[in-house]
Amino acid sequence: MSRRAVIIGTGHYLPDQVIDNSWFEDKLDTTDEWIRSRTGIERRHFAAEGQNTSDLAIRAARAALDKAGLQPDDLDGIILATSTPDFTFPAVATMVQAGLGMTRGFAFDVQAVCAGFVFALANADAMIRAGQASRLLVIGAETFSRIMDWTDRGTCVLFGDGAGAVVVEAQQGSGESTDRGILSSDLNSDGQYRELLHVDGGVSSTGTAGHLRMQGNLVFRHAVEKLARTAHTALDRAGLQPGDVDWLVPHQANMRIIAATAQKMQLPLEKVVLTVADHGNTSAASIPLALSVADGEGRFKPGDVIVTEAIGGGLSWGSVVLRW
Ligand code: ACO
Repeated sequence: MSRRAVIIGTGHYLPDQVIDNSWFEDKLDTTDEWIRSRTGIERRHFAAEGQNTSDLAIRAARAALDKAGLQPDDLDGIILATSTPDFTFPAVATMVQAGLGMTRGFAFDVQAVCAGFVFALANADAMIRAGQASRLLVIGAETFSRIMDWTDRGTCVLFGDGAGAVVVEAQQGSGESTDRGILSSDLNSDGQYRELLHVDGGVSSTGTAGHLRMQGNLVFRHAVEKLARTAHTALDRAGLQPGDVDWLVPHQANMRIIAATAQKMQLPLEKVVLTVADHGNTSAASIPLALSVADGEGRFKPGDVIVTEAIGGGLSWGSVVLRW
């Protein structure tokens, strides 16, 4: 027998304000056609003034708890992935805890940029398997619109705001790959590439929040090479083959990266959950958003094998394999 972390509820929240690609056309030297053809992005949501990362996260968290049929105090803890916290501290997770009215357990943030949710989910799995927690809320929430340089056409057209959440619960499994729940994970970072994708401000350096800077074409090459590899490694650890995969739920950064990764995994695009056209890149929120959208549409069937994978600033990348 072994403890498994099983997803029992998903939820998401997207801010009301929808920004189409054409919004950028009179502000920058860009076109809807360029953005669509190079990225697959058609629109994204931006948080309203005064609407912070914790506000988005609380809405997503409530939706996931409702779906799981749980109350906030049924949880042992909250792990929240973000690179755009409301404040330097406290952790956004503690603000979600208070916002939900949760009076017990722990709450902390994880920062691995676009790979943040994968890192948070792998941590939740480790805590559940170690017996340190039985029910956890794992959230990805971002307001990347707050760190855009609106004069940089190479970055500001790519990102959006949003939040997604899942509730994971300890359940008994056999220890075999036929179990429901998280079967394996693979986490990696390589700080020598930190300059490729970074924010040029921070508390102990500039004292400002800074703006996102990216050498997009170099990140693109790393993404295509590293994402399929991490997915294969995690599948191997789970004792599964690419042919066993029912759904790929990738980080939604760029349609061309997603298609190249799916091709390397020999997966047809029908098996890939795609939200990049409507959400843009919501960094750590993109995978839980995609999970929640697909779950809400009833696309996952019990027993389906799902692979998630992401890469982001650090560089940090990884993947989680689970059975629905
Ligand atoms: N509109 C029009 N032209 C543009 C735009 C734009 N919005 N942005 C860039 N260009 C131009 C460039 O200036 C360049 O022009 P030049 O040839 O005259 O110099 C040309 O388009 C090609 O630029 P590239 O950067 O080589 O374009 P590329 O095909 O690589 O697409 C993109 C750029 C979309 C950013 C792509 O590289 C990408 O998706 N990279 C990966 C992003 C990613 O996955 N990030 C990781 C996660 S994010 C995170 O962790 C926070």
